[in-house]
Amino acid sequence: MTKQKIIIDTDPGVDDAIAIMLLAKTESIDIQAITTVAGNSSIQNTTANAEYLKDLLSLNCPIYSGATESLTGPFIEGQVHGVTGLTGITHSFQGNLTNNAAEKIIEIVNTFPNEITVLCLGPQTNLAQAIQKDPTLPSKIKQIVIMGGAIQSPGNKSWVAEFNIFLDPEAAANVFNTPTPKVLVPLEICYKTPLFVTDLKQMTDDSKLKPILTSLVMPYIKLLSQFEGVDGAIIYDALAAYYLVNPASFTTKELEIKIETKGEFTRGMSVADLRTWGEKNPNTTVATALNRDLFIQDLLSSLSK
Ligand code: BDR
Ligand code: CA
Repeated sequence: MTKQKIIIDTDPGVDDAIAIMLLAKTESIDIQAITTVAGNSSIQNTTANAEYLKDLLSLNCPIYSGATESLTGPFIEGQVHGVTGLTGITHSFQGNLTNNAAEKIIEIVNTFPNEITVLCLGPQTNLAQAIQKDPTLPSKIKQIVIMGGAIQSPGNKSWVAEFNIFLDPEAAANVFNTPTPKVLVPLEICYKTPLFVTDLKQMTDDSKLKPILTSLVMPYIKLLSQFEGVDGAIIYDALAAYYLVNPASFTTKELEIKIETKGEFTRGMSVADLRTWGEKNPNTTVATALNRDLFIQDLLSSLSK
């Protein structure tokens, strides 16, 4: 079996953690590296959380830490994952900061030209920095799969902007301007696909990950309800990861998307041409629907392995 080679660029994060669990448990996926970015918490915490997950899942890929701030200044940190980023879990990993995520993305892509999928689960600063350093990079990346944006839903960080893009709109704009094939898993499809605590009954009782998932999901649901007014655990990044596992299960639409970097009220908005008329220049495959029951069943059976 030819495995899909991927780089996971991430800011773990409860939903990032579930995404990494799913990919680690999927045989057809070959994780070349995990690169970390600040976002849901500080770079120290997101990197430490990646180290915890690597250990938990017995992954043998390297972890490289990356951006501590956006292309234009300090990041605003997230709230819904608790202070450490992995609310509900205590671990003793410290976060070894290598500060070389962008360089390592370039190195890996050049080692496997046209074979690497970059899965962006946090602000896209590391990838944007890699592209700034090597402008030929986009033509050598197989595809970029992004959790981000709000196309047909309000934002979760501002009225109109989704968190990952709001944190670094310039980085997102650079990524969306590349000719690399891009897939976007936006907020609205995630809101329609919550994980409920009762779903965890689908996991076998002897599954090592079941108690860990339960500890993560329960406080996360409370924080999400407080900050985003939603029910259930919205596991955004796990949907983007699932796109790599089972792309055929998604309904998609080709759209042209631009990232607003200037608007007084709309900075970080993912602006899509949703008109049914006029000339079309789509630059992104946007996920528009997914069968929740199938996704949850596949996810939890993988995490039971
Ligand atoms: C995105 O922001 C973060 O809170 C999540 O991990 C996800 O990547 C959702 O807007
Ligand atoms: Ca994330």
